[in-house]
Amino acid sequence: MKGLILSGGAGTRLRPITHTQAKQLVPVANKPILFYGLEAMQQAGIRDVGLVVGATHREIEEAVGNGRRFGLKVTYIEQEAPLGLAHAVKISQSFLKKSPFVMYLGDNIIKDGINSLVEEFRVRKPNAMILLAHVKEPQRFGVAELKEEKVVRLTEKPKKPKSDLALVGVYMFDHNIFKAVKAIRPSWRNELEITDAIQYLIDKKYEVHSHIINGWWKDTGRLEDILEANRIILDSLESKIYGKIDSKSRLIGKIRIEKGAEVIKSTIRGPAVIGRKTRIINSYIGPYSSISYNVTVNNSEIEHSIILEHSTVDNLSHRLEDSLIGKNVYIGTSPLKPKAYRLMVGDNSQVGVI
Ligand code: DAU
Repeated sequence: MKGLILSGGAGTRLRPITHTQAKQLVPVANKPILFYGLEAMQQAGIRDVGLVVGATHREIEEAVGNGRRFGLKVTYIEQEAPLGLAHAVKISQSFLKKSPFVMYLGDNIIKDGINSLVEEFRVRKPNAMILLAHVKEPQRFGVAELKEEKVVRLTEKPKKPKSDLALVGVYMFDHNIFKAVKAIRPSWRNELEITDAIQYLIDKKYEVHSHIINGWWKDTGRLEDILEANRIILDSLESKIYGKIDSKSRLIGKIRIEKGAEVIKSTIRGPAVIGRKTRIINSYIGPYSSISYNVTVNNSEIEHSIILEHSTVDNLSHRLEDSLIGKNVYIGTSPLKPKAYRLMVGDNSQVGVI
């Protein structure tokens, strides 16, 4: 069985972070979201993975390489534009050939992995298998209608959803999916929808199985989803201290401090991760914080936030919370008079001031 991970697309809902980087590379607990998918493939016994990439091809290839460090062989498949999930399948036919495959959306995280689901597909051999989950806002997803446990209809982002069962971003197919992706037409959003391709299989009486998952799953398209993913992953963190902690600092709860990090006169209350070469000085880092590589936090308090590499948080008079801070960002109190906010904020940013 082969794997196909979709890592193209634009990431518009995560701007401005995605102006400069692929949304699949935003870290959760200091690990890019895409790596969770690659690891899930490896754990399910898949070795040969196609990675569909678009405008952010170069940085994704820089992060993933040939896949060897994940125990995988990764082949890059270029998609000229984000023309839809079914379009991504269509252009991957020469890589997938006749092999059955697992398709995994590169911005999804499934906490319990996909081992048992892949096994079920291998044993029962349907033409397609989809995963479903009960969600609060089904209109944001592909939605399934079931009759006596059989999927009868799938609708992409319906205004009036007929159920609360969303399509999870992991699908399993045999080669019949290629007939479907060639037969369908672009949707209202001008994409070739995988939802329509699966509906084609249902209409043509192919065997489409569904499986409702109960474990935690997230499509990390929005800021609140990334913060939730960060919370869930940090909750099962293993404490490991590789960096230096001075005698005036206190570590409470589950904390990972990576190599070369320094904690000076500070309190860290986990679960939290502090990245390589990051310095926490005279500060408080609260639960559910992921502080990335080479960050400086000085004289400030941070909680329930993700701070990306090479950034500085300096001398804040109030706690920073519920935030995603990009790379190379400086946030600090300005000594200049008159006393005022002085900002350089990118397009599509959100800033909440006191
Ligand atoms: O997350 C589950 C949902 O994913 C499903 O419930 C929906 O039925 C399905 O259509 C999809 O919806 P999204 O609108 O969230 O998909 P998105 O555009 O975010 O793309 C998902 C991933 O696939 C993301 O990593 C980008 C990548 N992608 C997307 C498109 C449209 C590609 O590689 N190529 C593409 O053409």
